[in-house]
Amino acid sequence: MRLVDLRSDTVTLPSPAMREAMYRAELGDDVFGEDPTVNRLQELAAERTGKEAALLVVSGTMGNLVSLLAHCGRGDEVILGDKAHIFINEQGGLAALGGIVPHTVPNLPDGTLDLKEVEGAVRGDNIHYPTSRLICLENTHNTCFGNALTPAQMGQVAAIARKHKLATHVDGARIFNAAVALGVSVKELVAEMDSVQFCLSKGLAAPVGSMVCGSADFIREAKRTRKVVGGGMRQAGIIAAAGVVALEQMVDRLADDHRNARAFAEGVAQIKGLVCDPRRVVTNILYVDISKPGMSSAEFVAKLAADGVRVLSRPSTGLPQVRVVTHYGIEAEDITYALGVIKRVMEG
Ligand SMILES: Cc1ncc(COP(=O)(O)O)c(C=O)c1O
Repeated sequence: MRLVDLRSDTVTLPSPAMREAMYRAELGDDVFGEDPTVNRLQELAAERTGKEAALLVVSGTMGNLVSLLAHCGRGDEVILGDKAHIFINEQGGLAALGGIVPHTVPNLPDGTLDLKEVEGAVRGDNIHYPTSRLICLENTHNTCFGNALTPAQMGQVAAIARKHKLATHVDGARIFNAAVALGVSVKELVAEMDSVQFCLSKGLAAPVGSMVCGSADFIREAKRTRKVVGGGMRQAGIIAAAGVVALEQMVDRLADDHRNARAFAEGVAQIKGLVCDPRRVVTNILYVDISKPGMSSAEFVAKLAADGVRVLSRPSTGLPQVRVVTHYGIEAEDITYALGVIKRVMEG
């Protein structure tokens, strides 16, 4: 049976070039800073983000955590969206492990934050309050339809941060998707931000790893916080080698994923009992509402899975909802196949 796995771009398998690079990678002990392949990846990541330095970490969650630990001390406060992955999907690690207080403001449907709300969330100098230290953005925004925030939108938040002497961090798990969708460089996107975390193991298809990028001083501190959470790796060049290939070969093709996501949404919009606005599709993530009476998202997911099409059921306060993510390994014919299965399920 054909398998079309649209649950997440984390299911991507490494390309043949990645496997070859991993096999041949020159290695050393990275805790001593002696793995040449890790060093090369870190230089490449710093160059692509326009930052002074970069650090390889295990995952996006670890990248965000070590960044927040490097920016903030215990009792400091971080301002972030109420739909942020850092707030909802990382076990509250910032608070649990860092003693950092999350202060949420509502995410607008496009993943941005209302600037007045952001500025209003900055604490004044008052002995009763935690100390505001950091503002976080997410780009692309996972739960807000994978929308890409523009350099101008990010710059407006950065300006508020600078005005109040706060630092800024971007959870850029999919920042390369944002850059490709907007036709700008990642460097341009994060120019006004102090730090960024991006994932190698999502759309860029590497098997493991994320990069934290920022100033040399910030990365020195992040290297310490990475060590305390057990993230100091040894011959990590094995995974860094795939990361180098990811940055050199897998960025431009993200446009294919965006095209496939748009084609999927356009197909779904024609199917009775499903709601999806193709105009909202900007990158590789989209959400489909199920308006057919009595059809739960669990039933929809199970029926699709029986024919090899996998999507993710998503908790929703409105109509039952599923998430669909396109990625390396999904071709235009897979989208056609998936739409055929969905049509049969909805009409059956
Ligand atoms: C926006 C965002 N940030 C961070 C992460 C965490 O990445 P990881 O699964 O590598 O920990 C994810 C994972 O899906 C994500 O979507």
